[in-house]
Amino acid sequence: VDPIRLAGERLLLLDQTLLPGKERWIEIRDVAAMIEAIASLRIRGAPAIGIAAGLALALEAKASTDPAHVLLARLDAAAARIKAARPTAVNLAWAVDRVLAAAGRAGKDSGAGDVREAVRAEALAIWEEDRGASRAMAEHGAAFFPTESRFLTHCNTGGLATGGGGTALGVLLELRRRGRDLRVWATETRPLLQGARLTVLELQEAGIPVRLLVDGAAAFAIRTERIEAVVVGADRIAANGDVANKVGSLGLALGARDAGIPFVVVAPTSSVDPDCPSGEDIPIEERDPVEVTSVAGRPTAPGGTAAYNPAFDVTPARLVTAIITEAGLWRPRVVGGRPIEGGSGHR
Ligand code: MRU
Repeated sequence: VDPIRLAGERLLLLDQTLLPGKERWIEIRDVAAMIEAIASLRIRGAPAIGIAAGLALALEAKASTDPAHVLLARLDAAAARIKAARPTAVNLAWAVDRVLAAAGRAGKDSGAGDVREAVRAEALAIWEEDRGASRAMAEHGAAFFPTESRFLTHCNTGGLATGGGGTALGVLLELRRRGRDLRVWATETRPLLQGARLTVLELQEAGIPVRLLVDGAAAFAIRTERIEAVVVGADRIAANGDVANKVGSLGLALGARDAGIPFVVVAPTSSVDPDCPSGEDIPIEERDPVEVTSVAGRPTAPGGTAAYNPAFDVTPARLVTAIITEAGLWRPRVVGGRPIEGGSGHR
């Protein structure tokens, strides 16, 4: 499933807030509409919002009839607004910066038409590269798990979270394609239920047996259901290997460590932030408390209840067994403040 479509010149997003009940494609006509879609999670998942951000800049460029220098200033202003839509997944800022850099190069010695074309080409390249990254991560991930068949996963990391393909879920889909007799346990992923609504949908569509569990059952399930590995995605990986991912990931990593099973992160190198030294430097998005005090719009707590609603948490590198990227196993550049041999810290 690719959650983004180009229908001629029309840019369409699959509204993921309505899944699994309704399949509605919405047309995005400008930057403001894309920011709304990103902030409200109509489009979500780190790689997917990176692609969406690049395409938003292409819409901004297309709408402009300004000369090159004015267009570049317009793109800068739009970029700042897009980056602020969601702070944790670095793919968003990474894609925006990549597109801006392409625009800047084109604007140096050509006119606005070339800038517009460069912005569109770079945005499409980011999308295409993400599809390739998903394929490569699936291959590397499948090789990493030569025999395992019982996996627990969190949030949604499938095609819906990327440009089609997936990260952690992409690995499971690849194992299935190779004939592995898989069993998957998917956490609900409160408060917004990406696991229940989206991961279960993607696994069912692939014909993979899946059991849904409430987040609070995960540590127990790891033991009682004989889970062999926990696989998750990432929203930002710091240079030291700390991983920000959907809230609840840290608890899963602790549960996996205690049970002696691997906790494996699958993410494209666009999720690595070499400028972020450690997890402490990763900005964690806090969302509206109403997401915690209600389910599907219905209040579940007394009026006036205060709630803590971080959308992500940070798993320290020491609890992460491996990080699998499209380039193979990623190793942190620094551990305990010291550079380590063979560390990449690359994008
Ligand atoms: O809030 P979301 O739904 O955007 O959070 C998504 C996640 O946390 C995913 O695990 C992460 O982006 C990796 S997706 C390939």
